[in-house]
Amino acid sequence: MASTPAIVIDQLTVHRGGTLVLDAVTCQVAAGSITGLLGPSGSGKSTLIRSIVGVQKVTSGRIDVLGRPAGSRPLRSLIGYVTQAPSVYADLSVRENLRYFAAVVGAAPSDVDGVIRDVGLGGKAGALVGRLSGGQRTRVSLAAALLGAPRVLVLDEPTVGLDPVLRRDLWQMFNGLADTGTTLLVSSHVMDEADRCSELLLLRDGAVLAADSPAAIRARTGTDDLEAAFLALIDAQEVAAR
Ligand SMILES: Nc1ncnc2c1ncn2[C@@H]1O[C@H](COP(=O)(O)OP(=O)(O)OP(=O)(O)O)[C@@H](O)[C@H]1O
Ligand SMILES: [Mg+2]
Repeated sequence: MASTPAIVIDQLTVHRGGTLVLDAVTCQVAAGSITGLLGPSGSGKSTLIRSIVGVQKVTSGRIDVLGRPAGSRPLRSLIGYVTQAPSVYADLSVRENLRYFAAVVGAAPSDVDGVIRDVGLGGKAGALVGRLSGGQRTRVSLAAALLGAPRVLVLDEPTVGLDPVLRRDLWQMFNGLADTGTTLLVSSHVMDEADRCSELLLLRDGAVLAADSPAAIRARTGTDDLEAAFLALIDAQEVAAR
């Protein structure tokens, strides 16, 4: 399916602490897709996400989101971002946190209860975030990212620490958002989430190993198992580099 890209990354190079972390990464994220950003720990997923949302100092290259340079002001209300560590206030209730974030992003206060329900925390709206479990806290961050109905949602490992039922519910919610035209970029280091995505970006050592649909990656590597496919792609890369 040919589709306009929501995110275009061209020759992106990033150094962190003097080390090369992203090496001339070129890739696109199709509008309305659920793109899985997968790769081992340290491969550069969070760095790529930070670059897309405009909070990472980049060495060179270009990133456009919805046709505008990453980090530019009009994008603030168009992108929702969930960091890898939940970034919510422990001494405020779920609803107070979301009212605060709604004010920050200019969303209507009346949106707050809807996003709390969307992440399945309707029964916890009055609870202090400091008394919630890790998975519940993650969902408060996710609710904050949903405020204002952003057109692009960038989620850094949103399902870590969640049980299978919650993970399934969240993926259903992601599918519902994609059906209404929202673009989702979801990072994970567990391959079993890959099949829930329409497109995959496999990252290894700061470079794109493959960018394709799960089915195409399976076909190319001749395996049904995406974890095995990932390893096959690494082997092929190493053979080619010899
Ligand atoms: N603040 C920092 N200063 C210096 N180097 C950093 C910093 N943060 C990350 N790095 C390095 O950048 C590389 C990529 O890190 P990044 O956090 O993007 O990986 P990741 O794929 O998100 O890993 P994980 O799955 O563990 O979250 C790693 O080698 C890491 O050591
Ligand atoms: Mg990370």
